[in-house]
Amino acid sequence: MKESTKQRALFATKFAAIASTVGSAVGLGNIWRFPYEAGTHGGGAFLICYLAFVILIGVPVLCAEYCLGRATRSNIFGAYRAAISGRLLHKLGYLGIISSLLILSFYAVVAGWTLEYCIESLMGKLDFSNPEEGHQQYLTLTTGWRPVIWTVIFMLCNAFILLKGVTKGIERVSNIFMPVLFVLLLLFCINSLTLPGAKEGIDFLFVPDFSKISSKVLLGALGQAFFSLSLGLGCMITYASYFSDSTKLAGTALLTALLDSAVAILAGIIIFPAVFSFGVSPQAGPTLVFEVLPNIFSQLTAGGVWSTLFFLLLFIASITSTVSVSEISVTYLCEERKLTRTKAVLISTVISLAGGVLCAMSFGPLRDFTICDRNIFDIFDYVTSNIFLPIGGMLCSLVVGWALDRKTLKTQFTNNGSIRFRFLPILVFFLKWICPAAIFLVFLDSIGII
Ligand code: PHE
Repeated sequence: MKESTKQRALFATKFAAIASTVGSAVGLGNIWRFPYEAGTHGGGAFLICYLAFVILIGVPVLCAEYCLGRATRSNIFGAYRAAISGRLLHKLGYLGIISSLLILSFYAVVAGWTLEYCIESLMGKLDFSNPEEGHQQYLTLTTGWRPVIWTVIFMLCNAFILLKGVTKGIERVSNIFMPVLFVLLLLFCINSLTLPGAKEGIDFLFVPDFSKISSKVLLGALGQAFFSLSLGLGCMITYASYFSDSTKLAGTALLTALLDSAVAILAGIIIFPAVFSFGVSPQAGPTLVFEVLPNIFSQLTAGGVWSTLFFLLLFIASITSTVSVSEISVTYLCEERKLTRTKAVLISTVISLAGGVLCAMSFGPLRDFTICDRNIFDIFDYVTSNIFLPIGGMLCSLVVGWALDRKTLKTQFTNNGSIRFRFLPILVFFLKWICPAAIFLVFLDSIGII
């Protein structure tokens, strides 16, 4: 395999490498998407499938992306080209670019809501006196043209960070704020557990009703595992290209998956007791969390302060994720198309902004535009998370399992022989067979073939 000799910036410490990949993984996917997916797919049954996919497919594919990224020190195209030289397969890197632009589009809408909630509650404009009031405010904030404006504002913040190259600054900020977010989530968990009717919510999340496992639940859980771990679009390949030679790939993958799943479960423990306590439908869909949270804040002392803090932290968590998604198209345009960083950021922002505006409008003026009962926002989310990301992950798993030479694999997982990694044969077996087959079977199942 041709290894890149190009000088690339590296993460200064192992902690920085871990913090950045966790920063990319932890975001709205855990706190916003996980509860709504679990809510629409039967709670406990979904959680079991999701965790199984994280362990059986997520961790091995994460290892594969890390390995490919660090071995080639390249963007997604360069990485595939180096691993499978001469074959046209690397063109599949375009799937990663398309996925990243689509994800940015709908992600920015939700991140825009987060920002708006944060500013509104900072200015004391949110009234937390009663749940009814909270619901009314939620409707005003998430419908009509307002989401369009906040989507644009969020995308501009994202572009600013990418342009100013203050990614390092953002990393530093997230190193401090992410632990704070974790503590805040723990506090909210305790509060939710004391709500009347909390047990119903906890049972919904943790007691699986296996009869609810269907092809939809399996596909949803697979998509959630990929989305939440930022897998299947080259994001972790790009990040791992900045890992230093001493970063332990398997350990970092395991830790990322562990922390990421822990945050998702915490979010579930916060949301579901409140869902049942306040009589919100668990099936509310993408707006679930934004409907439930105002209810929670309304029964806390100084609800406004808690909500400002919470939405601020959520905004920071979102931006560390969108920066990582944007890096895929930006590094591609810079390294493959030889554009300047400014031009690359501009192009990627304009394209995802166009998609973002459409997604934002699907909660307002374009509400009635649906295909198979899904609005534009849902379609972007469904197609990327449930189809494109698993296909991208399957491809990476196959490339690393079959095409990457054993020597490179060994060098990567043992850090050039300096550490032991006894699980390499098992990992390779998973990458060659188990992960691609499992993804393929879930697909066959979801189109009704098995
Ligand atoms: N994993 C991120 C989250 O949970 C979203 C994301 C998806 C980021 C894909 C990068 C790539 O919020």
